[in-house]
Amino acid sequence: MITQIAKLLEKITGEADVKVTIPENMAFGHYTTNIALVAAKKLGVSPREAAEKIKNEILEKGGTRFQKIEIAGPGFLNFYLSKDALQEELDKIVEAGDKYGNNEIGSGKTVVIDYSAPNIAKPMSIGHLRSTVIGDALARMLRTQGYQVIGDNHLGDWGTQFGKLIYAWKNWRDEMEFVKNPIKHLVELYVRFHKEAENDEALEDIAREETAKLQKGDEENRKLWKMMVDESMKEFNKLYDRMGVKIDKAYGESFYEPMLDEIVRIALDNGIARVEDGAIKIFFDWCEKELPPSVLQKKDGSHLYMTTDLATIKFRTQTYHPAKILYVVANEQALHFEEVFEAARKLKLSDEGTELTHIKFGMMLGESGKKFSTRKGEFITLEELINKAVEEARAINEESAEKVGIGAVKYYDLSHQRMSDIVFNWDAVLDMRGNSSPYIQYTYARFANILNKAGESQGKTDLDILSTDSEKRVVDLLIHYPDVLAFASGSYEPNHITDYLFKLANAANAFYENCQIINAEEKLRAERLKLAKMIMTVIKNGLNVLGIEVMERM
Ligand code: ARG
Repeated sequence: MITQIAKLLEKITGEADVKVTIPENMAFGHYTTNIALVAAKKLGVSPREAAEKIKNEILEKGGTRFQKIEIAGPGFLNFYLSKDALQEELDKIVEAGDKYGNNEIGSGKTVVIDYSAPNIAKPMSIGHLRSTVIGDALARMLRTQGYQVIGDNHLGDWGTQFGKLIYAWKNWRDEMEFVKNPIKHLVELYVRFHKEAENDEALEDIAREETAKLQKGDEENRKLWKMMVDESMKEFNKLYDRMGVKIDKAYGESFYEPMLDEIVRIALDNGIARVEDGAIKIFFDWCEKELPPSVLQKKDGSHLYMTTDLATIKFRTQTYHPAKILYVVANEQALHFEEVFEAARKLKLSDEGTELTHIKFGMMLGESGKKFSTRKGEFITLEELINKAVEEARAINEESAEKVGIGAVKYYDLSHQRMSDIVFNWDAVLDMRGNSSPYIQYTYARFANILNKAGESQGKTDLDILSTDSEKRVVDLLIHYPDVLAFASGSYEPNHITDYLFKLANAANAFYENCQIINAEEKLRAERLKLAKMIMTVIKNGLNVLGIEVMERM
């Protein structure tokens, strides 16, 4: 609805990009805008006069959608939807069901989302958890907006560490240990390599030779590398399956290896790259921002993270011509992506209009407010974190502990502003009365229980019958779902959806507590059952779009 109102206002005022928002306090209407304050300057009238003019024109043109339009404060316009408009919107919930909230804004456009991206031979970190959860939610959200979304797991499956691992494997492997826990054993081998290399200078050189052999296609080294990748992937896939995450592609860094020389050549030809101390570096002296040089190729001929990311943009552009490429990667890599994007645009590796965005996120910290560490008995790997969540969720519901526990971790992550650090707090994660997924899931189950007993009620909603404040509050919130979803998707901020779901759940529970449903008189009971069903539809859609499941019993 927001876009329709904004368009109407754009037509009337001649302004572009009119901002219409949902007021925090619903006493100020369903929608509000400050456009009169903006337009007043140009019209040379006071904001309140401008507001008056706009209001009158709207009432002439599309006025039937509104019960009233109020002018507030210095010249804000507050819109109150008419009963007919509300009713129509409610009918859409019933008609669209699972698809309620979807729109076609992105139709015909492709978005590549680069997320998860763990490193082979290392456990997935808490940072990768955040990337996985946020990336998966964004993929689902953008799909509801009509975009064709391609998720790509840019695995760290290439680089000098493999020479070290191969050397260590050849000399120190313990196959029994490897079978028990492949990633754990690879980490041990890696750690051992660095320990031994402290006392044996030759080791680094030998490892470099192993890497070089791997790059040249040496059969044995390729085989060992492939085994490390496959075994690590098996572990990662177990976690993805548990988390209900499916990533369309997993090209990984190794895929781009054959394209890296070309990237170096393009950068040299263009002139942004030069040789310095035997290495080839991109210098950003042409760029408005002050950015340090970035190495494309080291003295020994090996390539870097930057080179691979440039090749990746070129490949994605040629393959998909995406409207957007989104990188869901920790804050810490902000400088890297700034440089990647600047260089990619300069070298025309991406299409002219393609949006390149780093979807940054903060750290997830242990309850002490410090990084997770084993010493303090706080888990460090993603798997341990999930295990603990599921364990704790057993106290809530044995049967669906996986869904509740994993949902709770996802929700906790997504309910924070993306950029802020998150301090883990188990009480909050599983809080049955707070802004948590168990609470929202529980609300859903409450209404499911009623409908299972009473059966569904068919037909169009009659708003004249749903007249208490609790019911009105639920209706007002329900119809905002498509706007919230569109806004969260457009700003890449899932926390708007969790904020919304929390409000909706609170309103729904108030309705549950204040209004008789099953025992109400026939007509009222029918309308309330419809409202219950709509609450369920919107909660389900809202949780699902975040990658969280609902259940009928809890
Ligand atoms: N593997 C990297 C890491 O763990 C993240 C890769 C992100 N994606 C990218 N295209 N650079 O830090």
